[in-house]
Amino acid sequence: MDSEQRRKRKRINRPLNSPQHYFSVRSLILCFGFLAFLCFLSYRFSISSSAFRPVLVLSSLSLLSSSSSNSIEYYPEKILFPAKLKIEDRVLFPDHILLMVSNWDLQIKNSDELECVYYEALLNKNSNNSSDEIVALKRDVLSVDEYDEFQSIVRCPLPPVNYSLAVNLQRRGGNAIALYTGSGDGQSNQTVHSWETVAYAATLDGNTAVVFVKGLNLRPDRESAPNQFSCHFGFGNWEKDEKFVLTTNATTAAQEVVRCSLPRSIKKNPGKAQGIRVTIGMRPHVHAKAHDHVLVPSVAKIFNSKSEEQNKSKGKYELCVCTMVWNQASSLREWIMYHTWLGVERWFIYDNNSNDGIQEVIKELELEDYNISRHVWPWIKTQEAGFSHCTLRAKDECNWVGFMDVDEFFYFPFPTPRHRRFTKLGFPGQNSLRALVANFSSSTVAEIRTACHSFGPSGLSSPPSQGVTVGYTCRLQSPERHKSIVRPDALDSTLLNVVHHFHLRKGFKYLNLPQNTAVINHYKYQVWEAFRAKFFRRVATYVADWQENQNEGSRDRAPGLGTEPIEPPNWPQQFCEVWDTGLRDFVLANLADPSTGLVPWERYTENKVIDKTRNTI
Ligand SMILES: *[C@@H]1O[C@H](CO)[C@@H](O)[C@H](O)[C@H]1NC(C)=O
Ligand SMILES: *[C@@H]1O[C@H](CO)[C@@H](O)[C@H](O)[C@H]1NC(C)=O
Ligand SMILES: *[C@@H]1O[C@H](CO)[C@@H](O)[C@H](O)[C@H]1NC(C)=O
Ligand SMILES: *[C@@H]1O[C@H](CO)[C@@H](O)[C@H](O)[C@H]1NC(C)=O
Ligand SMILES: *[C@@H]1O[C@H](CO)[C@@H](O)[C@H](O)[C@H]1NC(C)=O
Ligand SMILES: *[C@@H]1O[C@H](CO)[C@@H](O)[C@H](O)[C@H]1NC(C)=O
Ligand SMILES: *[C@@H]1O[C@H](CO)[C@@H](O)[C@H](O)[C@H]1NC(C)=O
Ligand SMILES: *[C@@H]1O[C@H](CO)[C@@H](O)[C@H](O)[C@H]1NC(C)=O
Ligand SMILES: *[C@@H]1O[C@H](CO)[C@@H](O)[C@H](O)[C@H]1NC(C)=O
Repeated sequence: MDSEQRRKRKRINRPLNSPQHYFSVRSLILCFGFLAFLCFLSYRFSISSSAFRPVLVLSSLSLLSSSSSNSIEYYPEKILFPAKLKIEDRVLFPDHILLMVSNWDLQIKNSDELECVYYEALLNKNSNNSSDEIVALKRDVLSVDEYDEFQSIVRCPLPPVNYSLAVNLQRRGGNAIALYTGSGDGQSNQTVHSWETVAYAATLDGNTAVVFVKGLNLRPDRESAPNQFSCHFGFGNWEKDEKFVLTTNATTAAQEVVRCSLPRSIKKNPGKAQGIRVTIGMRPHVHAKAHDHVLVPSVAKIFNSKSEEQNKSKGKYELCVCTMVWNQASSLREWIMYHTWLGVERWFIYDNNSNDGIQEVIKELELEDYNISRHVWPWIKTQEAGFSHCTLRAKDECNWVGFMDVDEFFYFPFPTPRHRRFTKLGFPGQNSLRALVANFSSSTVAEIRTACHSFGPSGLSSPPSQGVTVGYTCRLQSPERHKSIVRPDALDSTLLNVVHHFHLRKGFKYLNLPQNTAVINHYKYQVWEAFRAKFFRRVATYVADWQENQNEGSRDRAPGLGTEPIEPPNWPQQFCEVWDTGLRDFVLANLADPSTGLVPWERYTENKVIDKTRNTI
């Protein structure tokens, strides 16, 4: 169990709804509300024309006209409420608004406890009509999730037409309104960052900070010149008061990842970095000085998962795995149990907005002593950056880190005489994958690549009850792409990676495992119900992605299929060129219970709904 998880468990649930609490809340609202009203009369927001920051604006209100009906209520917009919930940032995604909320010690785990509150956007900002009212509309939140030690993430639906993007939160049924109170100065801030251009994550790595940024538009698979960027570390209310901003040079830049020197004060005392907001400055023209740089808006705060309490003497895991999941709860258990048998010791699950109960599966596995942790990764279309982020997280804990998807299974076919050197390790067998990587730990090999075979529905029309490894046995003939296991300490400092291949430091090389030694079974085209859920759910929102054909990763699309979620004729027989029962036989021979014939994950999948998700198509 890692320290984060222990910390989580130690947290105490505090009582929320004491009557005294509400009593004082009510009087505070009245009191602050009136102050806010006075204050408001003398203060107007302005519309920012910046393309990066769609700032919608509320212009005036009347406290006196408040009335309430069932669904529409009137709220003063600028209450200075000492809320425990503070909306620190908002990011606009194509299909939702992400709120980053701090001071989350209220422990609201259940999204039922919160509502999103939208205010009517008054289009005529110059109106001097003092009786204009702010009409508030409420919607259920889409999800609530713990992001890191400082912040939680709440997702809200996009506002209806003519309502402001600057959504707020409210406790359901309560009268405690949690309003955005700006960056600590008590002033309301209605900024909504666009997902197109924003620094979204940051972490420390030795003497540097690594910042993840959307919108730099750097060339893929290429190192970019770092001197066009600067790094800005904000202390206090830095967006308003430059003197709290420390600027450093960027040392590397590639794709969405910029590495920054640390300001001296943080170098001396890394603890100081915790919670510091950091962003990247871009040179507007070639001769610009650092102080002329245009700052990318930032929601990124440095947060180090490695806490001081972590005990290094524990030694490292030999083999860990990073994965990015989106609604793959149904196959997660099989995947974890199988690869644990092969020797994987530690799991980093980056969860990209799942809503199919994968969190519960992870909790169960954790209670069964799997070393697994879930990391909320709400940043869409950032797979490469997510992998880089995960290597940083894994670096202190793991000698080797594998990158693979939850529908991909390592498999060691029975070795042929030509590859005896691998049989010496006792393949195939328990912990064989760990033994394989361990054998390369003292060599110059820093990336081990394995080819993938793509399996089809194999004639099935409903999900196989014994899991994908036993159920799917027909595949395409030739392998498609590779997956990698890398040594995080041998990666190039850019952390550059494209389609699962990393750039390595000088002096290190990669190795292709021969296909008859090791292969990955990729259960890519499963029964229609599973395939459809995987590929079509968000087509409505991401149609462009679906049709674009940008890189090799786009092989993730099914050839010959359009964007219609309709089962093609003869689906169960598709993608079937050779029968391959190798892994099935292997699993049944090595992992199934000899008396019952059950595979270890089977009893868990019984009575479980495969797809609990709200299907929007
Ligand atoms: C504000 O009110 C004055 C007088 O009531 C009116 O002449 C003026 O047009 C109004 N301005 C706007 C922007 O509505
Ligand atoms: C002021 O706004 C209210 C509500 O939006 C509207 O009913 C009223 O006609 C407006 N008054 C003027 C002078 O525009
Ligand atoms: C939005 O506001 C505009 C301008 O006031 C109005 O013409 C339009 O009907 C409104 N749309 C809706 C859906 O209320
Ligand atoms: C709100 O925050 C943005 C940056 O996040 C800043 O540029 C802006 O000045 C702030 N506005 C107010 C009213 O504080
Ligand atoms: C930062 O970069 C500038 C120009 O590239 C250079 O002049 C300066 O010395 C660098 N600062 C540090 C602290 O390295
Ligand atoms: C690690 O743990 C051991 C005992 O479990 C303790 O004696 C040692 O001081 C710890 N080391 C650090 C760096 O915390
Ligand atoms: C979890 O990690 C410990 C070492 O910290 C290891 O002994 C154990 O085998 C791991 N558990 C699993 C299920 O891999
Ligand atoms: C997260 O899921 C969305 C929707 O399926 C997808 O478009 C996006 O690429 C995923 N992001 C990552 C990093 O996997
Ligand atoms: C480890 O791999 C090397 C080749 O890189 C091989 O020569 C050696 O025999 C292997 N070690 C064992 C114990 O199999």
